[in-house]
Amino acid sequence: MPGVFNLSVDKAVKEASQAHSLGVPSIILFGLPERKDEVATGAWAENGIVQQAARAIKRELPKLVIMGDVCLCEYMSHGHCGIVKPASPAQSLGAAVASPPTAGTDYEIVNDASLELLARTAVSLARAGVDIIAPSDMMDGRVRAIRTALDDAGLSNTPILSYAAKFASAFYGPFREAADSAPQFGDRRSYQMDPANIREAMREIELDIEEGADMIMVKPAMPYLDVIAAARDRFDLPLAAYQVSGEYAMIEAAARNNWIDRDRVMMESLLSIRRAGASIILTYFAKDAAKLLA
Ligand code: PBG
Ligand code: ZN
Repeated sequence: MPGVFNLSVDKAVKEASQAHSLGVPSIILFGLPERKDEVATGAWAENGIVQQAARAIKRELPKLVIMGDVCLCEYMSHGHCGIVKPASPAQSLGAAVASPPTAGTDYEIVNDASLELLARTAVSLARAGVDIIAPSDMMDGRVRAIRTALDDAGLSNTPILSYAAKFASAFYGPFREAADSAPQFGDRRSYQMDPANIREAMREIELDIEEGADMIMVKPAMPYLDVIAAARDRFDLPLAAYQVSGEYAMIEAAARNNWIDRDRVMMESLLSIRRAGASIILTYFAKDAAKLLA
């Protein structure tokens, strides 16, 4: 991704500090672990890379709101957002984890076992200083599982920003390359949403709210402005939209070719998301937009 980098913890603190002083009120952390495995150890480990970064950033910048993306794909050797097992006859999870399927074989995502790892990740991040937990995995029941786990850990004041309407989109391509998190087999269509189906999107949002989401998010943003507008119309929670890597990369690429006026297109794209009804925008343009808005 042009202009976007994987940072070490010390560099992340500097980057966060710079963003904060430009007027960006909040950042979101994603992790790239040293090793990936079948149970996403790097996601929930006490000393995981995001946990380390959250502690360091909180120490330096106590007023900056830190969000933590909660998902397993960056930490799984197969790149899926949940635990994977072969789709063959009933098999124990232990066996599935010991021998994950390889390219081309049939597999299943084990929804409920994944919830436990997601909840563990959320608690671990909150303990490390993450202010807002943002689950992006799209497993069923994850918001409730995370809410319960946070409450049980004495973290009932930690809010959940749910990626409630997250579509199975090709616009995540640059992110997956940067995070080395593309699925090694299959795709994410069994847990992310059908881009053609807005009713399903509304239903997913409704379920996440019932399960305890404090804020909801639509993702991607610009190709889904109608979904943002419908969600704004229908739900009263704070509504976020995620302008994803592919949206950002397209604008950057066109600008680098001198085909468009970068700053104007950037601001117009953000304005369209705001106009559709999002009051929170996650964007790789945050620092540049903040400079122009200052
Ligand atoms: C993890 C996650 C992804 C993104 C945010 N969280 C990748 C995916 O679902 O494949 C995409 C972000 C972007 O494209 O900017 N599940
Ligand atoms: Zn994921």
